[in-house]
Amino acid sequence: MDLVRETWNIAREDIARVGVVAFLSLFEKYPETQNIFLPFRGLTVDELQHSARLREHGLRVMLTVEKCIARLDKPEKLQDLLHDLGQKHVEFNTKVDYIDMVGPQFIQAIRPVVKSDWTPEVEDAWEDFFKLLIYFMKEAMCF
Ligand code: HEM
Repeated sequence: MDLVRETWNIAREDIARVGVVAFLSLFEKYPETQNIFLPFRGLTVDELQHSARLREHGLRVMLTVEKCIARLDKPEKLQDLLHDLGQKHVEFNTKVDYIDMVGPQFIQAIRPVVKSDWTPEVEDAWEDFFKLLIYFMKEAMCF
């Protein structure tokens, strides 16, 4: 997970944009996910790009990523944080499948920011990291 920590320090410089890009590509690929955010229903890509709400959620996700990285050495705290977040997403009507879909979009959004430091090993490390994050969120959503 050292590779995640190191590349996060590069990606975090552009976190607001990374969050927006990741959710725009999620909405493009899986249009039904846009409707989960009630105020986004019917908005165009251009309107979404300028939405403070989308920027806010993107930032929240990125801040969660940051907190999780800080808790990688404290698995119980990491688990508590993500269980709590998973439960909240049930209340937000977010299906378990949507949580699965967002990991690859984030990896695609982070990659161009990390630029030449992005390697296949870095990609593997981020995939593992998102699997962990998503696993704990989903654990709380399924039971
Ligand atoms: C790794 C994945 C995700 C993380 C880490 C994450 C994180 C967060 C956080 C921290 C909040 C604020 C919670 C609070 O108010 O206490 C939030 C709210 C919310 N999330 Fe997520 N989220 C993720 C994925 C998704 C997905 C895939 C969707 C829907 C397709 C979604 C929909 C929402 C909605 C509707 C809210 C309600 C508040 C708002 O409009 O911002 N989230 N999320």
